[in-house]
Amino acid sequence: MTHPPALQASTPSAPALSAKNLFKVFGRAPQVAVDKLRSGARRDEISDLGTAAVIDASFDVQPGEIFVIMGLSGSGKSTIIRMLNGLHEATAGTVEVKGDPLTGVGSARLRGLRRERLAMVFQHFALLPHRTVAANVAYPLELRGVGKAERLAKADEILALVGLEGWGDKLPSALSGGMQQRVGIARALAADTDILLMDEAFSALDPLIRREMQEQLLELQRTLKKTIVFITHDLNEAMFLGDRIAVMRDGRIVQIGTPEDILTDPANDYVEQFVQDVDRARVLTAGNVMERPRPRVDASAGPRTALRQMRDAYMSAVYVTDRDRKPLGIVTDRDAMKLVRAGENSLLSRLKPVPQSVREDDVLMDLFVPSVESPLPLAVLDADGRLSGVIPRVTLLAALGPGPTSTEEITVLPHPLPSAEIDAVLADAAPAVENEAVR
Ligand SMILES: Nc1ncnc2c1ncn2[C@@H]1O[C@H](COP(=O)(O)OP(=O)(O)OP(=O)(O)O)[C@@H](O)[C@H]1O
Ligand SMILES: [Mg+2]
Repeated sequence: MTHPPALQASTPSAPALSAKNLFKVFGRAPQVAVDKLRSGARRDEISDLGTAAVIDASFDVQPGEIFVIMGLSGSGKSTIIRMLNGLHEATAGTVEVKGDPLTGVGSARLRGLRRERLAMVFQHFALLPHRTVAANVAYPLELRGVGKAERLAKADEILALVGLEGWGDKLPSALSGGMQQRVGIARALAADTDILLMDEAFSALDPLIRREMQEQLLELQRTLKKTIVFITHDLNEAMFLGDRIAVMRDGRIVQIGTPEDILTDPANDYVEQFVQDVDRARVLTAGNVMERPRPRVDASAGPRTALRQMRDAYMSAVYVTDRDRKPLGIVTDRDAMKLVRAGENSLLSRLKPVPQSVREDDVLMDLFVPSVESPLPLAVLDADGRLSGVIPRVTLLAALGPGPTSTEEITVLPHPLPSAEIDAVLADAAPAVENEAVR
């Protein structure tokens, strides 16, 4: 088979996929309907001309991104994804794949683009029932004329990748739903395209299997780094998988943003209503909810400063960091008090290890155990290991409900020393020379 030459000449810096002002109207007068929609008609006002399934949709999908299109049933998701691979011809607007037009090209060219660039995973698996699992996976390679031995070897390799090693000889009917969908994914991977289109790929699966598949997809994505357009009507799934999410309503994209954008800054009441039910623990990260790192002192500060900080924050310990804000350890109020009483100037002799720390991009779900185990507000470290914030337990709990995701409240730790006691010690002890500049 001959490939259209421009397939090799794609623009390297272009988005993986670009949709511009896409419309799809099903019905008797689609063009007239589009003209009316363009001049401001509502969807229901053109219903005598046809069903406006997609109205003026524009978005770019970047290479390596998981772009989720989310919306209720009938909002136009499948119609959009079908225009992305040319299964539906757009009524108006353009689609480009890596800078190459997909709309307005001939059918041979379209088939070429689909085969080379776009693989699809379907909701109901769409496996060939009389072929073995391996033959199903090898199917795209067969279409390309790859020899049998080579394509079956490749199929085995990919089956192992999706956790189905040894199942190649079975018929699809011998596999559970979750396993069949892994075959569907394996087949799409066998096509070896940069782009995967997944239309409600996990919706037919039981909740537990579904979650497992979501996790497996992210796991695969870490190594494969495909560009994925993933369609779902489940906001939790959208939030868990998506680098960015486009929310659709009645044919229109009403918001495009990161899961955090959509959760914390919904574009309108519709999106806001949607996000009420989101499982925030799987979406928000430590970096989203952390607070200013306090109490914290620089290692050059002395026990008196540390003690004062703890008194003001009603905390029983303080983070001690170096000049780069990298945590060196913690000092408790009791230890700081001993140091003050002994007239010592340095905290370093009483440093204890930082009990627990998490990374900025850890999701809240992974913070509960560390939070419970940490006597101090949980330390959050940035990519360079610097203390970038802390998360008190109350903040973690508050973040799980709707409303502002951060509070300025301070956790009262178990048994901080009474401030009167601290004041007495600070007043009694011989004033030691300390670096008081550090706060
Ligand atoms: N081939 C078609 N002919 C006529 N109308 C269609 C066709 N395909 C879709 N529609 C209509 O277009 C609208 C959008 O449908 P679409 O299948 O894109 O929605 P969806 O968001 O994928 O929904 P679901 O979650 O149910 O899959 C619906 O009103 C649907 O009835
Ligand atoms: Mg659909």
